[in-house]
Amino acid sequence: MKCDLTHAEFGKVCDVIVQRMGLYFAPERYEMLGRSLVAAANQFGFQNFNSFITWLLTKPLTREETGILASHLTISETYFWREPQVFEALTNTILPGLIHAKNDGNRNLRIWSAGCSTGEEPYSLAIALHKTIPQITGWNITIIGTDINPQAIKKAENAIYSEWSFRNTPPWLKNKYFIPLENQQFKIIPPIRKMVSFKCTNLNEESHKPVTDDLVDIIFCRNVLMYLTPEKISLAAQKFFNTLNEDGWFVVSSCELSSEVFPQFRAVNFPGAIFYKKRKDVFFNPSKSDTGIAMIPSENPGIHPDSFDISQIEFSIDREKHAPIEKPLLAEISPLYAPTPETEINTPDAVAVIRQLADKGMLSDALTQCNTAIDANKMAIGLYYLRASILQELGHSPEAIASLKQSVYIDHNFIMGHFTLASILIKQGHYKQATRYFQNVLELTKDLSGTDILPESDGLSALHIREIILTNMPKISTA
Ligand SMILES: C[S@@+](CC[C@H](N)C(=O)[O-])C[C@H]1O[C@@H](n2cnc3c(N)ncnc32)[C@H](O)[C@@H]1O
Repeated sequence: MKCDLTHAEFGKVCDVIVQRMGLYFAPERYEMLGRSLVAAANQFGFQNFNSFITWLLTKPLTREETGILASHLTISETYFWREPQVFEALTNTILPGLIHAKNDGNRNLRIWSAGCSTGEEPYSLAIALHKTIPQITGWNITIIGTDINPQAIKKAENAIYSEWSFRNTPPWLKNKYFIPLENQQFKIIPPIRKMVSFKCTNLNEESHKPVTDDLVDIIFCRNVLMYLTPEKISLAAQKFFNTLNEDGWFVVSSCELSSEVFPQFRAVNFPGAIFYKKRKDVFFNPSKSDTGIAMIPSENPGIHPDSFDISQIEFSIDREKHAPIEKPLLAEISPLYAPTPETEINTPDAVAVIRQLADKGMLSDALTQCNTAIDANKMAIGLYYLRASILQELGHSPEAIASLKQSVYIDHNFIMGHFTLASILIKQGHYKQATRYFQNVLELTKDLSGTDILPESDGLSALHIREIILTNMPKISTA
């Protein structure tokens, strides 16, 4: 079977896909979409591709059929402890803060992993909780993973994983929380398995019910929204807003960060990670706009809804990041939070030392160490890249850009250098320059295998980075 759709026919199929799943396919991805549609046609049992397309365009799909189609059209890439800085912020600050707040009252904690794929994310959340709450049995924990793809949910429920799911995961996680099976497979230990339940749901369904009857404390929706159309992203963000507790936290992946698409949330900065909290001056007003989002200045009389400038919140990162939780208090909750002896950072590895300093929020010291390390090894591209992330964290974007430009000057093939330059330039509104760097990444990754992990990328594969770019490039080229 072969896909021979015309451009216009692809357009019609894409309309159905957006309507059912919210997934956006730019024309640059039509070739790949064609291959996925052929695979779906085979699974639905069609002998003839055109009959399948006619069926798809004319028949309203059932929930099961939508799930099968989605399993061919979505990217399910994931692994345990993805973006470690996010889990560090979670175990060091967010969870202790929530636990402290709830310790005397109701000991309920609810977490939702939306778009959880094969389960590595919600199980990582369960492990983070297990690490953080010493007396976990005294707590009523709900962790729910949801995904549109029924095959992914089945695998998640099975809780057996291969080495591939640990591709960028600290070794302690597999050693402590998994039982080795035959054939290089690993099964999650029962106490962690029991903490997580799964549900096959479509985020995009109008009638999408809340995952629990109660509001949740943390929502993770990482590497999902970037595949949706801007309109569907806004609708999903509003669902998350409505499902989250007043003091809850919303987490997306670092490549999806933008307060523009989540105006009802404000960004809170942690070393290497940004979390979102509900803005208190926003409430839902269906009559106000297409997305139903209205800005009402209930707390801040200085902001008028009609003159609200979204750019004000783009970089208004909350600098009180460590303030809510006092270190001695954390040490009382768990010995994990006892003050770390300074000697612990005396590792021979310069990068590890710099990362530890940055993780502790000692960004100026990290920067000084990084500059010294670069002086000693001017060809170490990874150090330029690390320096750029510290400079970004310090809010020095021009210097971060300069450091990244040095990295790609030294090695033009340094893919993450080009990619990160593009990401910063987009935030600054320099779409033309950003597009050039995105094009460099597409060129540099075109001959790589989809599963190749990119150096310095924290586990990002060539296929995934291409998907991110092909999804975002048309949006910025028309901006
Ligand atoms: C790249 S994976 C992300 C997995 C995990 N959150 C992570 O960051 O490692 C994206 C997942 O989003 C799911 N997804 C895409 N559209 C969805 C929708 N409309 N409703 C629910 N899940 C969706 C896909 O099936 C896929 O498993």
